[in-house]
Amino acid sequence: MSAIDLNDKIPNNVGLAGDRKLQRALERWQPQFIEWWKQMGPVAHQDDDVYLRTAVSVGKDGWANFDYVKMPDYRWGIFLADPEPDRRVGFGDRKGEPVWSDVPGEFRSDLRRLIVVQGDTEPASVEQQRHLCSTAPSLYDMRNLFQINVEEGRHLWAMVYLLHAYFGRDGRDEADMLLERHSGDADNPRILGAFNEPTPDWLSFFMFTYFTDRDGKFQLASLAESGFDPLARTCQFMLKEEAHHMFVGAGGIGRVVQRTVELMQAHDTTDVAPYGGINIDTLQRYLNLHYSVSLDLFGAETSTNAANYFAAGLKGRFQESRRDDDHQLRDAEVETPEVADGRIATRTVAALSALNLGLRSDYTDDCQKGVDRWNRILAPVGLELTLPHVGFHRAVGAFGGSSITPDGRLVSADEWQASRDRWLPSDGDRAHVTSLMVPVTEPGKMASWVAPPATGIATKPVEFEYVRA
Ligand SMILES: [Fe+2]
Ligand SMILES: [Fe+2]
Repeated sequence: MSAIDLNDKIPNNVGLAGDRKLQRALERWQPQFIEWWKQMGPVAHQDDDVYLRTAVSVGKDGWANFDYVKMPDYRWGIFLADPEPDRRVGFGDRKGEPVWSDVPGEFRSDLRRLIVVQGDTEPASVEQQRHLCSTAPSLYDMRNLFQINVEEGRHLWAMVYLLHAYFGRDGRDEADMLLERHSGDADNPRILGAFNEPTPDWLSFFMFTYFTDRDGKFQLASLAESGFDPLARTCQFMLKEEAHHMFVGAGGIGRVVQRTVELMQAHDTTDVAPYGGINIDTLQRYLNLHYSVSLDLFGAETSTNAANYFAAGLKGRFQESRRDDDHQLRDAEVETPEVADGRIATRTVAALSALNLGLRSDYTDDCQKGVDRWNRILAPVGLELTLPHVGFHRAVGAFGGSSITPDGRLVSADEWQASRDRWLPSDGDRAHVTSLMVPVTEPGKMASWVAPPATGIATKPVEFEYVRA
């Protein structure tokens, strides 16, 4: 089941050759996808050889096969994790029933919506990042950017396969629209706000891959629990690829911090901007921005949709099967935040209604791990990065529209605005970061603001020519 024939027009492990109608429909979508990639993918280097990872099977060894490939020739395909025999719905009202290999009629529109929203984020990030290749701080980083881009393209394929295979005419229409909406397009934007913001520089890119791709990890992990088995299996495989994206963010920010510490020590100052570095307070402001907009992606703390998805067995919690409760949450209650009477308080609600809050809290715990690692690098200079309060700079949910400081104080809108440039990237921060975005294309060399990685990709050294014309 897990073998993939890369010579197939559309590489897959779903037996596409045995379903001519589906195969033909996807083969009609394929040239539109390639056209989209050429129009909206990386603005340069499309004819270069890039040292990329391609899946040749979904098993332990086969999914990470490294070789030079030109991006438009990347073998985008449809890969599902192998089925788990006798898998059962693990949560909700249908807990214990066999999982569904087809879409139950009553959940058709909910499932389609979940798949479309997830699918829309994948090409959106490629669009957001398309100019970054012109200012890559090293060939190693440029290669990582392209790896992420081609895999986000494959994640789009993963969702388009589900739409074509299980949702008939509506699904095919939705698949077409996934290529018609574009990030930041005034008339036809991407569905979620954070995916319409540009990723203007590499510091933003590292922050995006750490904080925003991590939202993706949590959404995929909860869909990987789905009772709709094809969705669960496709998300399980996507999560393997997603891990690299977050590594790029965690490692990238760690290397920026490392470089800043080196410059601070060499010049005996906290202001490393004159030496081509990025100050820790600037990093903190970028972190505050990307963390807060990523929190908004989890939606309102309490949500009837989320409760319905869970009860129906469509979308579980993070690591559902590792939890030792009843997986139905019929009587459970939790505390959810609220802003009332001029203060931040909590109220008690049914746990089932607060699943978004739960997923967001798990996300925050996961984000903290990277911050702890960066702080170990910072320890010698006695500085720290911190995650701001969850209410800071929020547009969605209980804190939406409230003026909350990074340390969690509710203040007046005027007071908040007056301090904005201390908390979020200022024009000065952006101008300095932009000034550092000069391309470095000599193998093994790094831009002034970022330390080299500890190791290269797969078995290759850092100074390997990861992208060659
Ligand atoms: Fe993705
Ligand atoms: Fe990703």
